[in-house]
Amino acid sequence: MGKRTIVRMPGDGIGKVVLDETIRVLDAAGFEADYVEGDIGWEFWCKEGNPLPDRTIELIKKHKIGLFGAITSKPKDAAFEELAPELKEKGLVYSSPIVGLRQHFGLDICLRPCKSYIGNPLNFIRRGQGDAIEEPAVDVAIFRQNTEGLYGGVEWSNPPDQVYDALMTHPKFKKNFDWCPKEELSVSTRIFTRKHTERILRAAFEHATKYGYKSVTVCEKPNVIRETSGMMYKLAQEIQKADYPNIELWNTNIDAQMMWLTKNPETYGVIVAGNMFGDIVSDGFAGLIGGLGFACSAQFNPDSGIGVFEPTHGSAPKYADYGTSIVNPIAMIESACMMLDFIDENDIAEKIRKAVAQVIAEGKVRTYDMMKMAGREDVVAKGAASTIQMADEVIAKL
Ligand code: NAI
Ligand code: MG
Repeated sequence: MGKRTIVRMPGDGIGKVVLDETIRVLDAAGFEADYVEGDIGWEFWCKEGNPLPDRTIELIKKHKIGLFGAITSKPKDAAFEELAPELKEKGLVYSSPIVGLRQHFGLDICLRPCKSYIGNPLNFIRRGQGDAIEEPAVDVAIFRQNTEGLYGGVEWSNPPDQVYDALMTHPKFKKNFDWCPKEELSVSTRIFTRKHTERILRAAFEHATKYGYKSVTVCEKPNVIRETSGMMYKLAQEIQKADYPNIELWNTNIDAQMMWLTKNPETYGVIVAGNMFGDIVSDGFAGLIGGLGFACSAQFNPDSGIGVFEPTHGSAPKYADYGTSIVNPIAMIESACMMLDFIDENDIAEKIRKAVAQVIAEGKVRTYDMMKMAGREDVVAKGAASTIQMADEVIAKL
């Protein structure tokens, strides 16, 4: 196969530096690719009135694989304020380009692995018997449905008459909400389709099989959210029984799961959830393995083979203008490793992961977050590694 072309989308703020450094690591690891620049983010909203220009969509359609840094989003009023003057009369409304990408390409499978590195000072620890300090090894893979549910964007304030009338046909709505004037009502829907629920479940079971996890946990709330969470759990039972009898199926409620993950995180393997609960539980587990500087993700559509790989952190604007960048590039580097897995470059992915693991285990080069410092501009002077120094060290280990 010829050289790949990867669409690099740095976006805003620290997205730029973590992506640059990651590409340096990819080069050093021997990954041969051409990169084309995909415009995305705040700059393009302000200049063009569209944070996700069509030309970027076309590039991804053509090349299929994207590496994404981070974007800045701002509330409605601020978004309007910063729009170029000639665009202000056009009635444009800002919406997140990363959510736009997920929906445009149907990137319905989101995978967020959370695996602790030996020697990471940010790893979760707990007190065990006889006051012994325990540091359980966390190794979970969270599958989050990425396009539906509460983030599907089907919502209204002061809903149109047809919507209101439809709601009034539901006995519980009529009983509990008919006192509220329509103008004072806001409704966000939680839509699950059978097709996409089944896809995320199957992706989770497949992953468990391929990587030897013993259990898949559906993390929802079927006892209360009976229709959507209920459908997910019921489908999971059917799929497990028919096709994955050797994988255990567990069922936890999202609230209880947030408690359990700080008590016995080592118990869990693959976790699968809808969009919002997947978002929540993956941040919860990310906190146990070092937080945003370590949290990577993949989102893809298995049918089209289109995938976009990104750290879960944002653009951290307050750090973006520091003379020397201090942020941790590992989340972005790990996201690139997920890209390599996706395109069957597993050897290079493993090589990079090994180098990162070695840097963390040695503990000589640590970014400010790993030193539990506040993220000020002087952290490098105080001994923390800069973003570039961290990437250099990973490259040295390669
Ligand atoms: P954020 O993730 O940008 O930053 C929160 C804090 O986490 C930072 O102040 C910093 O202390 C820490 N942090 C983040 N990345 C780090 C790294 N690589 N190394 C070390 N520390 C790191 O979230 P925040 O401040 O809520 O949002 C900032 C902007 O980013 C907003 O405009 C938001 O809309 C956007 N955002 C974009 C996302 C994306 O592009 N996927 C995701 C989350 C937020
Ligand atoms: Mg989130």
